[in-house]
Amino acid sequence: MSNIGSYEEKYKTFKWEQAEEELEYGKNGIYNIGYYCSDRICEKGSANKLALIWEGFTGGVKNFTYNDIRVYSNTIAKFLQDNGVNMGDRVCLFMDKVPELYLGFIGILKMGGIAQPLFSAFGEEALFTRLDDAKTKAIITQKKHLGKVRRIKDKLPELTKIIIVDADDTTPQVNEIHFCMEKSEKVDKFDIVKVGPEVPSVLHYTSGTTGKPKGAQHVHSSIIAQYITSKWVLDLQPDDIYWCTADPGWVTGTSYGIIGPWANGVTQVVLDAGFGTEKWYAFIQKYKVTMWYSAPTAIRLLMKEGLDVVKKFDLTSLRHLASVGEPLNAEAVIWSEKAFGKPFYDTYWQTETGAIVITNFPGMKIKPGSMGKPFPGIAATVVNPKTYEPIETPGTVGLIALKPGWPSMMRTYWNNKETYNGKFKNGWYICGDRSSIDNEGYFWFVGRDDDVINTAGHLVGPFEIESALLEHKAVAESAAIGKPDPVNMEVVKAFIALKPGFEPSGDLELDIMNFIRKKLSPLAMPQEIEFVPSLPKTRSGKIMRRLLRAKEWGEEIGDISTLEND
Ligand code: PRX
Repeated sequence: MSNIGSYEEKYKTFKWEQAEEELEYGKNGIYNIGYYCSDRICEKGSANKLALIWEGFTGGVKNFTYNDIRVYSNTIAKFLQDNGVNMGDRVCLFMDKVPELYLGFIGILKMGGIAQPLFSAFGEEALFTRLDDAKTKAIITQKKHLGKVRRIKDKLPELTKIIIVDADDTTPQVNEIHFCMEKSEKVDKFDIVKVGPEVPSVLHYTSGTTGKPKGAQHVHSSIIAQYITSKWVLDLQPDDIYWCTADPGWVTGTSYGIIGPWANGVTQVVLDAGFGTEKWYAFIQKYKVTMWYSAPTAIRLLMKEGLDVVKKFDLTSLRHLASVGEPLNAEAVIWSEKAFGKPFYDTYWQTETGAIVITNFPGMKIKPGSMGKPFPGIAATVVNPKTYEPIETPGTVGLIALKPGWPSMMRTYWNNKETYNGKFKNGWYICGDRSSIDNEGYFWFVGRDDDVINTAGHLVGPFEIESALLEHKAVAESAAIGKPDPVNMEVVKAFIALKPGFEPSGDLELDIMNFIRKKLSPLAMPQEIEFVPSLPKTRSGKIMRRLLRAKEWGEEIGDISTLEND
């Protein structure tokens, strides 16, 4: 029996207060996420239960009980306080998926800081933009990423604490502090900082079409939604071994790779290594993973390897599978039924929503290719893109719109209330995605309503890429778009007009690609560059990405009356 039982009934009756009560949220005036992910589970009698089984890329394994999570996060919280980090300060986590990332996240929250996780593959420019915007005070990182921090720290006057978790006996530079979690004196008792439910907890940066990346600011009470969605959608149960493949540099890795599972007191496994078909199957087999939360790109990569390799492993432990981040094509759902004897359940949400909002539930009829139905407590519809009125006719495409008011909704974009306010129309939060709803209430994703590129489930902003491209000595003008890709859904393609004196060549293409990889990240690196004499623009001089994209996707170009040239 699944945790949710009857979806229809829950959708009719559920109130968020019920989840709050179940979690005992606010008990004794405690609202801090850190408490609910560690101390509370210990108090409930599971102190010795495994919270985290971590395996590194060289095969080393470390186990942490809920008591370990409690004590190590206390230790980190105290260390931050002792080093002058105060409530409300932004503390960036810039690490691979090492235990310090998970425990540091809880530690920051316990001392009232705002956790700002950033993907460790970010290059220095991507890192700089986000630290500069958040005026981040401290960064927790590893030696291997320190070079990037050192190269930008002089431009970041607020960044005064650079904490290195695996430093050896090298001499720290100015503002650097060495901290070894496992060798530090353990802090058994820590006064978890009293925060109200509306106090900022996590700042996750996400990309838009224009401008710099925006920091979606979440608050402590988001845990109410992360707790109950983990329980009802991921169906987490006490004996589960749960594996979320996402990196906590992205929202899935914190909402469902830290907060949701630990608030539910389950054991989770983490593999700090990249993708590998056999490696992943062997991992599931070794730890007897029961619940697996992954992404369509990974599933498509597994599909490419075929069914024979699946048969080499014992994957019968798997009880429930779910996916997020990009459209889960019907073929992937059908394939997973053949491969694992059960489908992947698609879940839809965003950095901004903090938790799953539209989804397929265990026990509910799945329609392969559909994202499912709204979570109880969430009013969702599609609206007309001009009037923002709900569309009544089934099958008509509109913008996905949610009624504000669920606990994990971002409270603002950091320092950018205007963009945040612009997301609300006619009383709805507009997600920026297009979808239709069928006559049984199932949502069918159509595409994004903006130019943001979704590559392998990660959003990349074209503006950020174009700005970085312009810093290359040969680039006069550029446009970045998503180009269809059978595995990653989209990959970045750049159109570039060169400065006088530069000629298109394979070498130049490679040089530009690497330039972006180092500056931004491997995800943002164009997989293809097309050199063009000039770019199509509107009369006001704006580059028409829409036109380039339409050509690439073989779509109708639409109204081009405002184009200056073509
Ligand atoms: O366009 C939608 C797509 O990813 C966007 C959110 O990306 P991000 O904020 O990085 O969060 C990713 C993890 C929650 C959405 O606006 N997206 C997410 N899930 C799905 C999806 N597109 C189609 N189907 C999904 N299940």
